Amino acid sequence: MKENKTGKPGLYRMTVGEKEILFPDSSLSGIELSGFTTDFLEKTIYQRMEETQSGSMEEYLSVIVKDAGEENRLKDLLYVGYSEFFRNSLTFAVLERLIFPSLFIHHQQTNRKELRIWSSACAGGQEAYSLAILLEELIKEKKVPWNYRIFATDKSSEQVEWARKGVFSQQSLAKVPFSAMVQWFDKQKGSYVVKPELKRRIDFSVFDLLGQMNSSPSASIFGDFDIVFCSNVLFYYKPEFRTAILEKATGCLSKDGNIVVGDVERSYLLNAHFHEVYPHSGIFRNKERE
Ligand SMILES: C[S@@+](CC[C@H](N)C(=O)[O-])C[C@H]1O[C@@H](n2cnc3c(N)ncnc32)[C@H](O)[C@@H]1O
Repeated sequence: MKENKTGKPGLYRMTVGEKEILFPDSSLSGIELSGFTTDFLEKTIYQRMEETQSGSMEEYLSVIVKDAGEENRLKDLLYVGYSEFFRNSLTFAVLERLIFPSLFIHHQQTNRKELRIWSSACAGGQEAYSLAILLEELIKEKKVPWNYRIFATDKSSEQVEWARKGVFSQQSLAKVPFSAMVQWFDKQKGSYVVKPELKRRIDFSVFDLLGQMNSSPSASIFGDFDIVFCSNVLFYYKPEFRTAILEKATGCLSKDGNIVVGDVERSYLLNAHFHEVYPHSGIFRNKERE
């Protein structure tokens, strides 16, 4: 794949095989596009062109220039924030039955003070809240005083703001057991609001996995995570960007730490130096660190 500037201000050219595609570049759209896969960009930008009735990329660029809101609409689609509570049921079942119990024993043996989890592309916070629900239930069931902290970050400040508020529709709670829904959410005007008790061990902040500044969220100080969720974010990006994200996510894992990816992203890790802790769970360990 070749990429270069077109000589036309605001346009960025990508050549994929025989195909040449022109996209608005970051000087105009304010969005750094070079990391996304061409298929994903093409689909997203063509969708906005259709919706804005732009006949060509140049026309769409003039929409971006004239309408300040268009940049945000494009961003919303590019950083698509869809998520679910307990999104991959098998992942959460393996965490509950295998990973958490073995981490608990390991922590007791090594005198480790707390379980540390990073939800690194947390979107509206569903992943972080699902983990907190699971851990609270486990702690109650086993009657053990286990400390945990969840650092939940996203590149999008809007998503982080949503996540912090913790207001969800009934539909989005479809996979939350009824007893947990009653225990951890307040019903307010048809929405479900996460209770403060569930939020108290979750720290939400903005963090760009491709940023150069920090290796882990600053609130976590030193990383050292038992589990890093990096799920349903890798697939947007080209291989070199995926590698950079994975290096960042795995670089701050504790020695036997686990990295969790989305179902469609498992192949990236299966083809690299990771092994899946349980088949199809999306939970991996770095073979080289074991
Ligand atoms: C589809 S959601 C995934 C949410 C959740 N992890 C899940 O699996 O349901 C993808 C999220 O990745 C975030 N994202 C995209 N690029 C990112 C980056 N470079 N750094 C951090 N977050 C990013 C988007 O803002 C979006 O909220």
